[in-house]
Amino acid sequence: MLDSLKSELLAAVAAAGDLSALDEVRVTALGKKGRVTGLMKELGGLGAEERRARGGALNLLKDEIAAAIETRRGDLQALAQAARLEAERIDVSLPARPEAPGRIHPISQTVDELTAIFAEMGFTVAEGPDIEDDFHNFTALNFPPEHPAREMHDTFYLPDAADGRRMLLRTHTSPVQIRTMLTAKPPIRVIIPGRTYRSDYDMTHTPMFHQVEGLVVDESTHMGHLKGCLVEFCRAFFEIDDLPLRFRPSFFPFTEPSAEVDIGCSRKGGELKIGAYGDWLEILGCGMVHPNVLENCGIDSTRYQGFAFGMGIERIAMLKYGIPDLRTFFEADLRWLKHYGFVPLDIPNRAWS
Ligand code: PHE
Repeated sequence: MLDSLKSELLAAVAAAGDLSALDEVRVTALGKKGRVTGLMKELGGLGAEERRARGGALNLLKDEIAAAIETRRGDLQALAQAARLEAERIDVSLPARPEAPGRIHPISQTVDELTAIFAEMGFTVAEGPDIEDDFHNFTALNFPPEHPAREMHDTFYLPDAADGRRMLLRTHTSPVQIRTMLTAKPPIRVIIPGRTYRSDYDMTHTPMFHQVEGLVVDESTHMGHLKGCLVEFCRAFFEIDDLPLRFRPSFFPFTEPSAEVDIGCSRKGGELKIGAYGDWLEILGCGMVHPNVLENCGIDSTRYQGFAFGMGIERIAMLKYGIPDLRTFFEADLRWLKHYGFVPLDIPNRAWS
């Protein structure tokens, strides 16, 4: 009788098609109310001799069934894994997902890069309007009314505003210095990337171009801070740790003293190489904020000092990425964009090529 029960249970184990069916078989045979368990409960009613013989046989049966269940469980698990591996199979020899056809324009990429560098130095980003009035673009920046420096900017003028203000397309990002100082209290530490406009057009000039301005105002700001900040920036941006920099005296109405900054380069064999000694290349203008400018913005110039700088974004992008002609930036030529553009989500500071 135990033999037929055994073969019946073993057959059920073998027939269990998955792990949950197998578990049902286990409960039916060996569970609290299972068939083998039931037979064991009947042992109490037997005589000692008979109980020992029958008990031994039942234990043997129980162990055999348990072992069969374990073996079957192992087989079923292996089968399930094989099925899953089959279902999730990928053909690694297939071609990769096609590259996104769009590109990040070098100007956007360069703005992202320089913003990241200045953000690390504690600068935030400020913005202002492209259409400005004469006050913010010139007067508040200490350009006297008929000063020749105004002429040097090749300004695009617009019809006067209804209230008589002289309107124009901003010729630099410096008017946003004024807007910032009129609204924020020192300490101030901002960069201002944006579009600027001058009536000029050749290999190195387009009527619309981009600048980034920097402004720091605090109680003990001095020329050493200006120098340190720009040296750090240029070396980080061009990724050359020992990039030589030269500060040359210059003039801007809104800074005193003023300087222009050159970076070291070589032009040996007609090829421009940034970071070498021998030659110099101008890349930006800077200086200590003129006391008149601070006062024009209601900042006490006996208490506060500041430094400012401004540079052309196309220019530093051309130098870093070897782009020869400024005008090509704005021609929207897909072949140019594909060549000089950056893959979306690419880490900044990496040229796509
Ligand atoms: N605004 C100046 C220009 O466009 C650059 C500059 C900015 C110089 C800030 C000094 C300080 O030429």
